[in-house]
Amino acid sequence: MSRAIYAPPTSPRINFARGVPANAAIPRSEIELCVKALSCRDDFSPFQYGPAAGPMRLREWIARQHEIDASQVIVANGSVGLFDLFCRVALKPGKLVLVESPCYDRALQLLRIHEADLWPVRIEADGPVIEDIERILATARPSFYYMVPDFQNPSGVVYSLEKRRAVISLARIHGFRLVEDSRYRLLRYRGEPLPSFHELAPDVTLQLGSFSKLLSPALRAAYLLADARTIALVGTMAENIYVTLGNLALSVTAEWLSRGLLEAQVERLRRLYAPRLAAMIAALEEYSPSNRFLRPEGGFFLGLTLNASVDAATLATQAARAGIDLADGARFFVEPPRQPFLRLPFCAMDEETIRHGVRRLAEILARS
Ligand SMILES: Cc1ncc(COP(=O)(O)O)c(C=O)c1O
Repeated sequence: MSRAIYAPPTSPRINFARGVPANAAIPRSEIELCVKALSCRDDFSPFQYGPAAGPMRLREWIARQHEIDASQVIVANGSVGLFDLFCRVALKPGKLVLVESPCYDRALQLLRIHEADLWPVRIEADGPVIEDIERILATARPSFYYMVPDFQNPSGVVYSLEKRRAVISLARIHGFRLVEDSRYRLLRYRGEPLPSFHELAPDVTLQLGSFSKLLSPALRAAYLLADARTIALVGTMAENIYVTLGNLALSVTAEWLSRGLLEAQVERLRRLYAPRLAAMIAALEEYSPSNRFLRPEGGFFLGLTLNASVDAATLATQAARAGIDLADGARFFVEPPRQPFLRLPFCAMDEETIRHGVRRLAEILARS
C-alpha cells in the first residue's frame, strides 16, 4: 500500500501562537560550565532528594535580591505548578478570584480546575479598570487578584504607579491578597521601571516569578515569595506531591546566578529583543493600521484588538493555511470578548520574519 509522502512547507511556519524565548537567547555554554562545576564538587545535593522548598542556595540568592528572608521564598519546577500548589492551600471551590481581562490563559485554566468563581477586571492602557474591582467589592470579598502588572501576557500592558497604588489600597481595605506574576519585569527595552507590587506592598502581595524567559524554560526554575507561613504550607504540599524537586536544574540555575551572569544576560536579551518589538510595531503601523494595539516597552507580547466584523475561527483557519499559527484569542477571557483579540509574540523571530508575518496576517485580515 502506498503512503502519502510528507512534503515540508517551502517556508518555515510563523509562530504567532506561543511566546518562547529565541534559541539564540539561551546561554548554552554557560549552562554547560555550571553543570560541569556541580559535577566536580564533593557536594552531592544537586543529585539527591532535597528539601521541600528547594535548594537553599537558590532560595537565598532570590531572598537577597528581594531583601527578604529565605523562609519567605520557595522554589519549584515551573511557576504554573507553583501557582497550583498555592491554590491547593489557599483556594476552595466556589471562592471568588479576580482575574485580568484578558488574562494569561494557563492561569485562567488552572483557576477553572480549582473551580474558582472568576470575576474579570478589564485591562486598559495603564492597567486595570479600578471601577470593575470596586463593583465586585461592593457585594463580595475575593480570595485574591491574579495579575501580571509588568508587560502583561497577553496584552503587553504595564500598570501605572497610580493604578498600582489604587489596587493596593483596595486590597488592604477589603482584605484580599494580590498574586503578582512577575517574569517580564527585567525585559524592559525602553522607559523607566516602576516598583513592583511586592516592593510597594509586601503585606498583601505574593510574587510568582521564574527564570524561564531569562535563562532557559527547560530548567523550570520558578519561585514564590510570600509570608513564611504560606511558604511552609506550600512546601508541605510540594513534598506530598513531588517527593522532591528537579534539584539538578534548580542547582544549575543557582550556580549560574551565583556566578553573576544574570546582568550581562539581561543586557543581551534587551539588545536581541528590542529591535524585534520595534519591527512588530512598525509592521502593524504599516500593514494593519485599522486594528487597535498598544505599543509595549518590553516583554514578549503585543495584544491586537481586531475589528468586530472579523470572525476569529475563520481567521485562524486562513492564517494556518498561509503558514501562520495563531493562539485562540478567546482563551484569554472568562467570557467570549466582544471584539476578537490576538496575542502576538515577537521574541523568537528575527525582524524580517516578523515583518513578513505581520504583512501576511494583515492581508488575511483585510479579506476577513
Ligand atoms: C504570566 C506567565 N505566567 C507563567 C508562565 C509560565 O512560565 P514558566 O512556568 O515557564 O515559568 C508564563 C509563560 O509564558 C507567563 O507568561
